[in-house]
Amino acid sequence: MTAYLDNNILKLLATAKKKGYTLKNTMETPTEREARKQQEEQEITKALIEGRNNAYWEQYSLWANGKPEKEFTFHSWVPGKQQNVPAAQRVARKALDLTKRLKNETFNVSLGGFPGVGKTALALAMSDRLRKAGKSVMFVSTAELKRLYSAGYDDGEQKQRLKFTLEKMKEVDVLILDDFGTEGDMTAQGKVRVRSDMRDDMYRISNARVEKTTIITTNNMIDELKTMYDPKTVDRLIPKNEEQRIVFRGMGSVRGGVERGVPQRD
Ligand SMILES: Nc1ncnc2c1ncn2[C@@H]1O[C@H](COP(=O)(O)OP(=O)(O)O)[C@@H](O)[C@H]1O
Ligand SMILES: [Mg+2]
Repeated sequence: MTAYLDNNILKLLATAKKKGYTLKNTMETPTEREARKQQEEQEITKALIEGRNNAYWEQYSLWANGKPEKEFTFHSWVPGKQQNVPAAQRVARKALDLTKRLKNETFNVSLGGFPGVGKTALALAMSDRLRKAGKSVMFVSTAELKRLYSAGYDDGEQKQRLKFTLEKMKEVDVLILDDFGTEGDMTAQGKVRVRSDMRDDMYRISNARVEKTTIITTNNMIDELKTMYDPKTVDRLIPKNEEQRIVFRGMGSVRGGVERGVPQRD
């Protein structure tokens, strides 16, 4: 008799479970039910936002040579990799302090210095923190962006990708423009210029992003960038405030050994 009852109860519970009832929620009060529903809704909203934000990083980003950058966090930064250890500590500290502010504020940050000093690495560390703080972040290698413009006129897929990328660059919370300035071409007059369609688009993007955060890595001087782009674009993208400029002064490349005697730049 007992075994028969137990079996029936078990069957009943199994059916109820399949239908989404549990002992817990059949016994809950209306207030509890309301609270549970609210919590479930919050969780769904959170998941949707996370999914949307991840898409900016994982799907819309344009990586150099199509290869996503390896994850880099502030913990991965080893000042001892640099010959100039205090300078390596200083730039990372500044990047970290600015990142903390960027969780609640919006402003632009530039990371300037020679190749191999760790500009992209710190931009990735900043991205990691900001993504974890709930920001949508998109990484765009400007050389790769230029490549999309170079696609043949009959390459519809590339054109579509370009259009889509430009739209996303306007709306994302935090845009990383990596190696800004490498997309310039030498003109017949011996000047470095960015192709005019890309120049116009970057102008529009810089306008659309005045209330957002753009983080730029570059190994060009501001004046060089201003000959490549409309000076207004550069003014809007590169912060004027020294506080928001991270200059890798007196630092050498950590790729394949340390370079000595690297001249300072601003
Ligand atoms: N202080 C550092 N600690 C750890 N890895 C570093 C450091 N500086 C640079 N790197 C690594 O060295 C390589 C070159 O740095 P990268 O950020 O690409 O330089 P940049 O963007 O200035 O050209 C990358 O693999 C980067 O992760
Ligand atoms: Mg770089």
